[in-house]
Amino acid sequence: MKIILEDNNLKFSKKLHNYAIKFDNFYNKKSITKNSPKFLNDSIKYINTAGGKRIRPFLVTECSKLFEVKFEFSIYAAVALEMVHTYSLIHDDLPSMDNDDTRRGKNTLHKQFNEAIAILTGDCLLTDAFYVLTEFYKNKDPHICIELISLLSKSAGSQGMVGGQVLDLFPIEGGKNNINLMNEMKTGALIKCAALYGAILGKAPVKDYNNMESFGIALGKAFQIRDDILDVQGDEQELGKKTNKDKIKGKLSLIDFYGIEGAKKLARNYIIEAKDIISSYGNKGSNLQMLTEYIIDRKK
Ligand code: IPE
Ligand code: IPE
Ligand code: MG
Ligand code: MG
Ligand code: MG
Repeated sequence: MKIILEDNNLKFSKKLHNYAIKFDNFYNKKSITKNSPKFLNDSIKYINTAGGKRIRPFLVTECSKLFEVKFEFSIYAAVALEMVHTYSLIHDDLPSMDNDDTRRGKNTLHKQFNEAIAILTGDCLLTDAFYVLTEFYKNKDPHICIELISLLSKSAGSQGMVGGQVLDLFPIEGGKNNINLMNEMKTGALIKCAALYGAILGKAPVKDYNNMESFGIALGKAFQIRDDILDVQGDEQELGKKTNKDKIKGKLSLIDFYGIEGAKKLARNYIIEAKDIISSYGNKGSNLQMLTEYIIDRKK
């Protein structure tokens, strides 16, 4: 059983890698603009070629497919979301935040260039993401365009990623409930947004919208638990970022409440929940089933 799972995850890693090549081709064209300063373009190129897994765009593409939306229509939403995610990583690594030197197997942006350009590159990706969305969708379908903007801004801001980053850096009392909330916000919000983008782009009925929401929430929770486990047990080389950072910085995670094995079990339960939701979409959901399994087995 374990061998079959490992084999499937290896196959899926290749699939994701092939998707990333196709996605990056598009992503580079959209995230690097013509009339901007060379220094800014150099820093965006640097982070673009660092080899992110592109899980969020893959989710957008695959959740869109559930509702018969073609790659050519969903790709702009996928690009915008990945731009916001990339900005979140650049700022997450800054000295005033997690103070990390390595990301995606390379120097972090502020290490490679400087802090000011890292802040500005993040600002630029966040802002341009909304330009990418509006430029493409405003004429194609203004209603979809507004829904995409509204959800991405909500997922990235005070009620989502940024709010969660604040809870991460300045924890409030509340034990594991607070950690759960932090995970849902700092990581879960953008992953949930990716799943919901499929429903928005496909103008799916409420029932499917709710399914995508529950699927995204479960996946996001499992994703951050795996990230925290990899911080303890991962291989730095493979992971592309330093390990044991969380303990050194005194950051609490669900591992502190459940232990490694307990956290693994918890993540597994979220994965079962996520797979169960996707199973109602039959064969159309097969890539999502594989992605879901990969999330808690990933080594990077
Ligand atoms: C890392 O996200 C940050 C978290 C939200 C835990 P990923 O593991 O998706 O990072 P990349 O994009 O593949 O580098
Ligand atoms: C990152 O959480 C969440 C973000 C919103 C970027 P972490 O701080 O644990 O992510 P890594 O481990 O640095 O990738
Ligand atoms: Mg952090
Ligand atoms: Mg970090
Ligand atoms: Mg981490």
